[in-house]
Amino acid sequence: MENLSRRKALTLGVALGLVGVANPGAAWASTGSGTKTAAGTGPEWIWDDAADPLMASMLDGGHVPAINTAWASWVNNDDPLPGGLPAEFAAYLRQVNRLPSWADQAKLTRAADFNRRRDTYLFMLYGLGSGIMSTVIPREAKSVYWSAGGADMQDRAAKTFTFGYDLSELGAFKPTGQFVVTANKTRVVHAAVRHLLPQSPHWRAVADETVPISAADILVTFHSLGTYVHRKLLDWRIPYPAADQEAFLHSWQVAVHLLGVPREHIPRTWAEAERQSAQVLTPILSPSTEGIRLAEELLGLTAQIDLGVTRGFLNEFVRYVLSDEVGDWLGLKRDYASAALVRTAWPAYVLFREGLSPVMPGTFYMFDQFVRALAMLFLNKGSSGTTTPITIPTGNRAA
Ligand code: HEM
Repeated sequence: MENLSRRKALTLGVALGLVGVANPGAAWASTGSGTKTAAGTGPEWIWDDAADPLMASMLDGGHVPAINTAWASWVNNDDPLPGGLPAEFAAYLRQVNRLPSWADQAKLTRAADFNRRRDTYLFMLYGLGSGIMSTVIPREAKSVYWSAGGADMQDRAAKTFTFGYDLSELGAFKPTGQFVVTANKTRVVHAAVRHLLPQSPHWRAVADETVPISAADILVTFHSLGTYVHRKLLDWRIPYPAADQEAFLHSWQVAVHLLGVPREHIPRTWAEAERQSAQVLTPILSPSTEGIRLAEELLGLTAQIDLGVTRGFLNEFVRYVLSDEVGDWLGLKRDYASAALVRTAWPAYVLFREGLSPVMPGTFYMFDQFVRALAMLFLNKGSSGTTTPITIPTGNRAA
């Protein structure tokens, strides 16, 4: 089950809209010109030289609870660094907590505006598409499951969604925005996980790598988020001019950079991203015990909230955005009436919303309620009204 055949990978790639020639041997060959693919030099051999040793020493020195307390109030990009941080940790943040010199504010502003205009589709695609896809990315599923956060998926899903939400805010990259801080907190969490997970006997028993979350793994996840959403927006015929496409890519390039991936490995164009995605994401998608449990938890918790739809509808929506093959892997029970509804009414809803069809589908309000409820659920904003804080774990999931 771990490896799909080439033919299956291609079929799945078509279903996900991530088409291309899957050739794992040349996994990173289509990335930036500086990319080396020889063993030991590609992004699968890069972790985070700046953050990893620091977080190992912060964890071993018992400083993490104090950091978590101190940085709770550190939210906006222009907030001064909080007091109470160990000097070494504060020095690190001072170095990295800024946009790269190549960041283009005009494109970032356009990306933010695009995110606002397209938030309905982005919530659906990130939440149900990318979110559930992450459970069939075996390395991600296994590390998320066995890390501390895996024990409380609602909280974790909300925190992960914070990343997407802060990225999508109008002024995300501006001094008053929050994304640079959120990305840096995430980078530090990943560095902590690289130190902690190798100490988990559960993770070691199922992992196919000695240290998790390489730059290559981060790029795979980027493709399950940005590249996948980009492709789906095109498939759904959402108006998506070239300038929006470029801006959306640029915001992701900056985001992936802030997570510590060297620039030469970050795709420069959507064409390059799609090629890379076909090579490194589509062929590795497969079920795992951990992934199946995570998907069940994620979909189960969404079913607890009244989304205005049944669990059967939810299952079929996931099948619609990710393919029946993925739905079967995850054991999502069929609901053929909902399947027919999703496949006919969703495209009609999109066309009407976009002013491409004058006919309002009878199910318009049902879909509208569904997308709003889903957004609220993932954002966890229904009750708190504030951004869910990201905290550094100090241990792993016990069992
Ligand atoms: C934590 C986002 C890639 C595994 C987080 C958090 C965010 C995030 C926002 C903090 C929220 C939380 O504590 O749950 C991202 C983004 C990625 C990415 C945007 C790439 C574009 C990856 C990859 C893996 C991974 C490739 C593993 C293969 C984890 C784990 C945690 C985490 C294990 C810690 C959960 C815990 O607290 O126990 N990530 N991530 N992430 N991420 Fe990622």
